[in-house]
Amino acid sequence: MSRPSDNEARRIFVRTFGCQMNRYDSERLVEILGGQQFVAVEDYRKADLIFINTCSVRDKAEQKAFSYLGRLKTLKSNRPELVVAFGGCVAQQYGEELLVRWPHLDLVVGTHSISKVPAMLARYEVTGERQAWVDFSYDFGDEPDGRSQLWKPEVSAYVTIMRGCDNFCTYCIVPMVRGRERSRPSGEIIREVESLIECGVREVTLLGQNVNSYGQGVSGEVDFAGLLQRVAQVEGLLRIRFTTSHPKDLSSTLMRSFADLPQLCPHIHLPVQSGSDYILQRMNRGYTRDHYLRLVKELREMRQDVGVSSDMIVGFPGESEEDFRLSLRLLEEVRFDGLFSFKYSDRPQTAARLLDGKVEEEVKLERLQRLQALQEQITLEKNEAQVGQTTLVLVEGPSQIGGSQLSGRTPQNRVVNFKGSPHLVGEEIHILITIAHAHSLEGVVCLEENVNLKIAKEKSWCGR
Ligand code: 5AD
Ligand code: SF4
Repeated sequence: MSRPSDNEARRIFVRTFGCQMNRYDSERLVEILGGQQFVAVEDYRKADLIFINTCSVRDKAEQKAFSYLGRLKTLKSNRPELVVAFGGCVAQQYGEELLVRWPHLDLVVGTHSISKVPAMLARYEVTGERQAWVDFSYDFGDEPDGRSQLWKPEVSAYVTIMRGCDNFCTYCIVPMVRGRERSRPSGEIIREVESLIECGVREVTLLGQNVNSYGQGVSGEVDFAGLLQRVAQVEGLLRIRFTTSHPKDLSSTLMRSFADLPQLCPHIHLPVQSGSDYILQRMNRGYTRDHYLRLVKELREMRQDVGVSSDMIVGFPGESEEDFRLSLRLLEEVRFDGLFSFKYSDRPQTAARLLDGKVEEEVKLERLQRLQALQEQITLEKNEAQVGQTTLVLVEGPSQIGGSQLSGRTPQNRVVNFKGSPHLVGEEIHILITIAHAHSLEGVVCLEENVNLKIAKEKSWCGR
């Protein structure tokens, strides 16, 4: 990449695969490079730097990232000055080896190395040297306190509160590619939330692999329930969400937060992974089916309208038809509001890779289809039960379905589309639900309930 003249901006295109953590890291990268005269572009063919932020949690996600990288080969040979960078979990996993395997790849940026990208680019520009930076030297001081001038303000924003994971679920590659669990100091988190509010953000989602163990092992630090209390005190914040929770660390104190903190949205993503104790034990999840069911019951007692979503894996090694039926039964008992379900895939360096009793691919697929069919029916029934109800929706922006439709989410995290003026973006308004779909709701703005609304209120958006 040739260095432009002082007033010429360089263009970055980021393709993000995988979870919210990756989306957050991609945002940070754009922000860091913004300070180096980069602007983000929507068309990868116009970019000077293409950054692929990868996910390796499942084999399919990894293959998608490689196939994307493969497709850039022609572009790079036509424009040798283009810099191609590979970041995230797959980069962390394979490191320098990727430079040998992919001659058109220039930079490999590990999960802890986003802040090193400017230095890597500078070196590349001077020496032309292809590089890999995959050590675990990251520190929370590298995290932004807020968002820079380049950040496009949104109604809802993510805030990282911890990184890494110590749980070593036997199927999971995360502890290997994201390192040990570290909690971000609460003071830094609060500062970031405050600065987001100044930019017009109304909702924050606190992010971590296992937020329930926030603060553990850090002397003088608050626990997660304490952190929620502190975040809830930030003036101007309408809604708080968090993800992800591990059932083994979900305490009664934390569950009580749903009753005590009005800003905390009544929704929890609580991955169960399987309904069979035998499989849960083989997964090293640290809880039983019974314990999980008790948690859901307690949550619903604490806050009757709480929405619960989950993750489930089918075809884990050793899973019999009977074990699988226990998962189906758990779905029927809990009646999740939403479910992400996956076929088990072997991941490098994980313990489950070495387990016996691998399940045939066709069996996994058939189980996944049965599980998804059951959940779709449950989700639709739950969505249909919303029809005729009035619910508070935080308006996020234009709807993906187009037209003059806006989109927002209910406290339980259901997507609602409705017709309305763009001035409503950023407002929490009452919507009467009129139609239920499998993955969203439709509604109309209730004028009476919204009479006090400060419509057309000018937002500061950091003065932009
Ligand atoms: N195979 C299938 N699904 C997996 N997940 C994590 N590792 C694997 C794997 N090896 C799923 C889990 C986790 C979600 C993020 O991805 O359900 O909660
Ligand atoms: Fe992976 Fe388990 Fe950690 Fe979640 S809690 S990131 S599934 S090891």
